[in-house]
Amino acid sequence: MKDIIKAEPYRIKMVEPIKMNTRAEREKLIKKVGYNQFALRSEDVYIDLLTDSGTGAMSDYQWAGIMLGDESYAGSRNYYNLKDCVKTLFGYDYIIPTHQGRGAENVLFHVLIKPGQYVLGNMHFDTTKTHIELKHGRAVNLAADISYDTQADHPFKGNIDIEKLVKFIEENGKENIAFILMTITCNSAGGQPVSMENIRETREVADRYGIPMFFDAARFAENAYFIKKREKDYKDKTIREIAMEMFSYGDGCTVSAKKDGLVNIGGFIALNDEKLYRLASQVVVAYEGFPTYGGLAGRDMEALARGLQEVVEIDYLESRIDQIEYLGQKLREAGIAISEPVGGHAVFVDVKRFLSHIPQEHFPGQALCVELYLEAGVRGVEIGTVLAGRDPETGKNIYPELELVRLTIPRRVYTYRHMDVVAQALANIYDRRESVKGLRFTYEPPILRHFTAEFEPIDF
Ligand code: F0G
Repeated sequence: MKDIIKAEPYRIKMVEPIKMNTRAEREKLIKKVGYNQFALRSEDVYIDLLTDSGTGAMSDYQWAGIMLGDESYAGSRNYYNLKDCVKTLFGYDYIIPTHQGRGAENVLFHVLIKPGQYVLGNMHFDTTKTHIELKHGRAVNLAADISYDTQADHPFKGNIDIEKLVKFIEENGKENIAFILMTITCNSAGGQPVSMENIRETREVADRYGIPMFFDAARFAENAYFIKKREKDYKDKTIREIAMEMFSYGDGCTVSAKKDGLVNIGGFIALNDEKLYRLASQVVVAYEGFPTYGGLAGRDMEALARGLQEVVEIDYLESRIDQIEYLGQKLREAGIAISEPVGGHAVFVDVKRFLSHIPQEHFPGQALCVELYLEAGVRGVEIGTVLAGRDPETGKNIYPELELVRLTIPRRVYTYRHMDVVAQALANIYDRRESVKGLRFTYEPPILRHFTAEFEPIDF
């Protein structure tokens, strides 16, 4: 007898219709937007895997909370609910809501970074790096070398390299380091987790040199789940216990609540230090709003307080991570190379192997995104040459080591059957991969070109 398989740990109470248009329609639509899937209307997409940020489904408990919004300018009851929830989950005393993650980064970095100082991390997310640089700081990635090898098997490929960290501090002086920022899970490394051991060791280094340590905790619950599954001594601990221990090693965190907050918009800063909280509270007024709402409606804060309680439930996390692994396994079975092991929020297709006949100057990652849309109306995102942009000094294209397509899975939105569609579409393309054509620019904007560039297909 076989074990009973597990399905989604929820049933569907409300549906949002989506439709698969015809291939002929998709050919017209993608051509019209210059072969850039960012410019498509979401209505014209069947399965949208552009991002897991703000795209999740809220529960009935969260929707019920929306009706309990206290929209007072100051001291909303929902703010206090959120504060209590963060205290019991993260252990931090002070919280400042913000409109989303980058709002939290902007405010906290404003008070923490002096011009010229370094911010050391495993791998900073794009907006994080941008906010560090806007404060005239310097963002440094110190992830272990193995993080850059898509085929290397390691349970914690998001780890910071402790030797590199110590060496950097010794060579550049502790006074020139603003803080250490540990991103959990590490999005830019493929949603790979950081081990508790690595977090603890990083804290020891931070203490040795008197440097503060913070978390970029957008996907903290997924990280805690991987610790439970993969790290010895944690298998019998609850996700709450693991989260509490992780955060005990930090001085605070910035959070994009659009991921593990299970809400469509929101973020926050959580802190231990009263002085720092007071400073950040002054800054938040200018950029986001009064410190008890920081750009969020009372109802948004209530939905977030409730989402944070649901995201640490083991049934939810098991299903979340299993669904992503399921898609990864289907792709492996079709012979498609993906980043290994599969991370917490997305499957990354290795395009250099998939479309080896298209040179990077003809944007194979983008070409695969276009093809995936044509095949089944699925929208993924290129993490490759288009995203990498040009070298500001030479004006030449930067050709990144990794040319990837990210299939990012929204939380509680799609079923296993949707994953089958995505896998089937990619398998079909893989079977006729030689016929896929590269692209060239017909319009290239000077900055952030991936969002608005336009292309045309080419033969070569
Ligand atoms: N930190 C990490 C690790 C992120 O992945 C993101 C967003 C942010 C900070 C910024 O948060 O969007 O709420 O302002 N990542 C999204 C993505 C956009 O698609 O990976 P935000």
